[in-house]
Amino acid sequence: AKITYVSHDGTERTVEAKNGESVMEAAIKNSIPGIDADCGGACACATCHVYVDEAFLDKAGTQEEMEKSMLDFAENVKPNSRLSCQIKVSDALDGLRVSTPESQH
Ligand code: FES
Repeated sequence: AKITYVSHDGTERTVEAKNGESVMEAAIKNSIPGIDADCGGACACATCHVYVDEAFLDKAGTQEEMEKSMLDFAENVKPNSRLSCQIKVSDALDGLRVSTPESQH
């Protein structure tokens, strides 16, 4: 699936992500700035915080309890905030756009 990462300054980077990997893993592999993933995907750091494009909110799934409580530590949380390590890539997410918060760059 193609995933586009939009940085805070509006720079767009589109990568080809494999089904089953997380939106965070695809970002790390492609050196996308703004996604640090300090905890390596354990849902314990919130440095992989992204905003999910409204059109994909349903497809990206819902926040689990752990993700919700972790987001309490993130800055500038919005209704479409997600931790990108908790979003699994699938064909349904082809064309997904996520943007990274100003505090992460
Ligand atoms: Fe740490 Fe997602 S990588 S919470």
